[in-house]
Amino acid sequence: MQNSPHSGPDSPPSPGPAPTTKNLREGGTIEPVREILWGSSVGVRKYETPGELPEELRKLIVKLMVVQADTEFASIQQHRPWLDRAPTLEDRWIEARIVADEARHGLQACRILKDFGEEGQVWIDDLLSKKEGEHKLDAFNMKFDAWSDVGAFTCLVDRVGVYQLRAFQECSYGPLARAMPLMLSEEQLHLNFGANVLRRMVHDGPQYSGTAEEAQAAVRKWYPRALDMFGHSHSETSRKAIEFGLKRWTNEEARQRYIAEITPILQRMGLDVPPPDFDRRIT
Ligand SMILES: [Fe+2]
Ligand SMILES: [Fe+2]
Repeated sequence: MQNSPHSGPDSPPSPGPAPTTKNLREGGTIEPVREILWGSSVGVRKYETPGELPEELRKLIVKLMVVQADTEFASIQQHRPWLDRAPTLEDRWIEARIVADEARHGLQACRILKDFGEEGQVWIDDLLSKKEGEHKLDAFNMKFDAWSDVGAFTCLVDRVGVYQLRAFQECSYGPLARAMPLMLSEEQLHLNFGANVLRRMVHDGPQYSGTAEEAQAAVRKWYPRALDMFGHSHSETSRKAIEFGLKRWTNEEARQRYIAEITPILQRMGLDVPPPDFDRRIT
């Protein structure tokens, strides 16, 4: 890595001025961010191909993309039974859209894996063979037994997904950074839909579907699994990911931001938020 653009000087240069958005109507352009914005290689050009990546970062990206793709494909399996069981026509259409979006996210993560050659392809084949109950994270091995599960999952678990994706925004691996904006906008629909389902269950009850008690029970079922998804509080991997400019936050920082965001949303609906240590498996 002696002469690589990523070997970097002894002390990292300052990030320089933020990218500017010129007036597009006057012929300006939006400059893509091409340099690493945080971590130990600030100011150096982003990595664009697997061949440029330091070994440790290469392994980390493969690992994170495998988990990412696994969650996308798993959630398709979880949503599938509700495609023609959702209570309203609009709910069925949004279910179908969510399934299509998750398939596209899985494809996008696999495209990144494919760039890693034979190793990536082995992972893709493995991912495509996974059945319900065989996935990496507990939240994705649980069934949606009731419509309240669909609401709580999309409101709580998809929201964690959004935090995971936001953590990659403008990260040091260009192909991953460029995949984020569209995935994030699609995920936003999923979690807003989930919040709406829960809100309607609480306020309209059986006139819509289910009851406030069912909504509350679903929150208690999914909230601990959602908090677990952030991973161990003192994870060395999450510290490394920041140093590499790959992730913006540690697991615990992201979890605390999530709790601060979701608490008032649930409380405004009239739902209780379980304590952060309730029924947790990963702390
Ligand atoms: Fe997704
Ligand atoms: Fe989603």
